[in-house]
Amino acid sequence: MSPLKGQKLTVSVHASAGDAGAAAAEHVAGLVRPNPTAVLGLATGSSPLPLYQALQQADLNLKAVTAFALDEYVGLPAGHAQSYASVIRSQVVEPLGLTPARVHVPDGNPAEVNAVGEAYEAQILAAGGIDLQILGIGSNGHIGFNEPRSPFSSRTRVVALADRTRQDNARFFEAPEAVPTHAVTQGLATIFQARHLLLIAHGPGKAQAIKRALTGPVTEDVPASILQLHPSVTVYLSKAAAALL
Ligand code: GLP
Repeated sequence: MSPLKGQKLTVSVHASAGDAGAAAAEHVAGLVRPNPTAVLGLATGSSPLPLYQALQQADLNLKAVTAFALDEYVGLPAGHAQSYASVIRSQVVEPLGLTPARVHVPDGNPAEVNAVGEAYEAQILAAGGIDLQILGIGSNGHIGFNEPRSPFSSRTRVVALADRTRQDNARFFEAPEAVPTHAVTQGLATIFQARHLLLIAHGPGKAQAIKRALTGPVTEDVPASILQLHPSVTVYLSKAAAALL
């Protein structure tokens, strides 16, 4: 591990995505083993998959863990395979044995759009806050669905997705137009309140975003650059994602 900016942001570079995932899984296990009721923040997308896969190999009981997803698409029918509620269930809750009632995902079909964020923030608060937030990064530097120019002070809310994000995520849908136009996401201030942030990225397509987030100016143009201000961050990268550092 080599500290990049002072002692608070640590970057750990690995030969492959699988190795980065295994190291990140060890990190999560190191929190949960002594603290089985820890509160985790969960990311979706391809970036954390090697972490979740490696966690399956760890001898770990996650039944008492509470978890909060970062985000959810707006408007997908309940049970849609690409809703983050479905993805979290099939990729995290079921394989890792979390207790479904302890796993929260923002409501993507809220009766009252303006109330959805406040309700989710209240749930996080009632759980005592998030101990460790797992994050991926979008190719445009987004975290959760906080697109460039999201305020660092933002809280959980409904947002419009950037065209680039919809293009990036089109691979998960039957047609590019089927990608939702809006999502509910934890805000940047919400994410920043987690006691520890764990960012994971792999592949050359993330190298530029990683460089801008970790070594560029701290700016709302690059939402992930807020990590440089956080007191406790670990970044797990494949060599390809770290290539421009
Ligand atoms: C998605 C998610 C993010 C994720 C990012 C990268 O749109 N909202 O939480 O980190 O984009 O996705 P991937 O890991 O598949 O590249």
